[in-house]
Amino acid sequence: MRPAGIDRAALLSAALLAVSMACGAPAQAGANNAGVARCGSRKVAAIGRGCRDLLRAEARFLRNGDGAARAARIAAVGGRLTAEWSRAEAAAADARCAARSADADAAAARLTAAVSAATAAVPGSVECRRALVGLWAPLCRSAVASERAALRGAASAAPAHLRARIAARWPAPGCAGGPDAAAASRTILRLAAGAAADATTRGLRALGADIGVAVGAAIEPDEVASDVDYTSALAHDIDSLTAENVMKWGVVHPQPATWNFGPADAVVARAEAAGQRVRGHTLNWGALQLPGYVSAATTAGELRAHMAEPIAGLVGRYAGRVAQWDVVNEPLPGFLEAPTPDGLDDNIFHQRLGADYIAEALYLARAADPTARLYINENGLEVPGAKQDRFFALVQALLAAGAPLDGIGFQAHLGLVPPGQYPNAATIEASLRRFADLGLDVELTEVDVTLLFVSGALPARFAVQGDDYRALGEACAAVPRCRGITTWGLNDQYSWLRPFLGATDWPLPFDEAWRRKPAYFGLRAGLLYGRLSMN
Ligand code: XIL
Repeated sequence: MRPAGIDRAALLSAALLAVSMACGAPAQAGANNAGVARCGSRKVAAIGRGCRDLLRAEARFLRNGDGAARAARIAAVGGRLTAEWSRAEAAAADARCAARSADADAAAARLTAAVSAATAAVPGSVECRRALVGLWAPLCRSAVASERAALRGAASAAPAHLRARIAARWPAPGCAGGPDAAAASRTILRLAAGAAADATTRGLRALGADIGVAVGAAIEPDEVASDVDYTSALAHDIDSLTAENVMKWGVVHPQPATWNFGPADAVVARAEAAGQRVRGHTLNWGALQLPGYVSAATTAGELRAHMAEPIAGLVGRYAGRVAQWDVVNEPLPGFLEAPTPDGLDDNIFHQRLGADYIAEALYLARAADPTARLYINENGLEVPGAKQDRFFALVQALLAAGAPLDGIGFQAHLGLVPPGQYPNAATIEASLRRFADLGLDVELTEVDVTLLFVSGALPARFAVQGDDYRALGEACAAVPRCRGITTWGLNDQYSWLRPFLGATDWPLPFDEAWRRKPAYFGLRAGLLYGRLSMN
């Protein structure tokens, strides 16, 4: 019982103060956040100038081809960037400013490589290339500057005028048969997004919110509880939580008479305290983590009764609090499994109830919470082919039958399923659109990018992975019905792929020491590109 006469708001603010002091956060958090934003804004301005100057150098040296002078100019731009970066950090006197941007050398190296690659990719005569790169130079700076406005909390400057400027000057002299204006705009916006992504101090959460994409993470509540850095990363970058395991049947209802809601409650409570959305995962998964008593059911009636229990138990318990549910997980066989006669996974539900178990599960979930968005979640859908086609036919049949289906979860374990395949942004976007065009929401629900099939030294592999994360961000940002991007974990140390593969892998945006990897900045760049190309 609470003692009488104690004001709840006062208790809450005392508790918050105690927590912030225990975490070493300054009491003037508001003022300091402004300092971090100012520092980010200075870095953004510096990298905008850097992008402009590198492009100017490319335009100039395309003509006279002086390799040594070009190298000296590029080094000078990098040096200035590094100096301005450290001045901004010194002025902020707040370690979060350094921690939330890329380090200056990495940012300069990425920008230089991106500018050279973009310049080299322009076809056509030297005049055409010079004209185009010369046109890009000021535009890059202004596109990057739209992130400065966002850092100051102002409405961001509309980059639509940039596209108009490219179109108005098109075709550039000597460019007959060269790139079109749309391709030229995409290149410059991508360059600007990558530059801003390295410099800004805003988190994934804020960048996703700009474009209506909830950036999420799957968590194990005990891992979060034992790692204070986990909590700050979630607060800054994450807008949606998924329970990695604790809402699964085998955990929540392991025996016929046993319910274990504690860890699931902890995930929901944590999300609510931080103003984050919850994705429920998962109510029916025939393939894995099923308790023995379910697999032992011998009749259809017995199995139906079992199937209803976790659906009513979980969906009912969190009605109005869990925004969406993966009602059925992985109804199709895995890529490495033998095909089945009707193309569906040969699990106990399918064996006893036929293909109808999927619609039945959806109806049960709808009845338990009419407001939750109901999803089917599947792996490997990012890649066109037989599996995507079979899944598409399943979804069409469910919709034709009037089943209550609201969305499709694309797991997006890139590189793992299908093994060795890393689809690019255009491919992922087309896959998402195929299902969104049926009138459904879509999400990337279990993102990670295994490095198992990427060779080379670790930093180079991280860079390749950064590009895959950028592709995922761009693809979701480009599809209006793509509502979220959830990574399966956040920090490599805790990734399920380590025990699953029995090998050290680095599939996530943060490394073991909570340093942001190129994957993190790639995802930021994808989200920023989404905003730049939307305006
Ligand atoms: C995984 C968890 O991450 C592991 O900890 C657990 O041992 C097995 O399940 N597809 C899914 C997720 O839909 O539920 C899986 O999660 C990963 C693959």
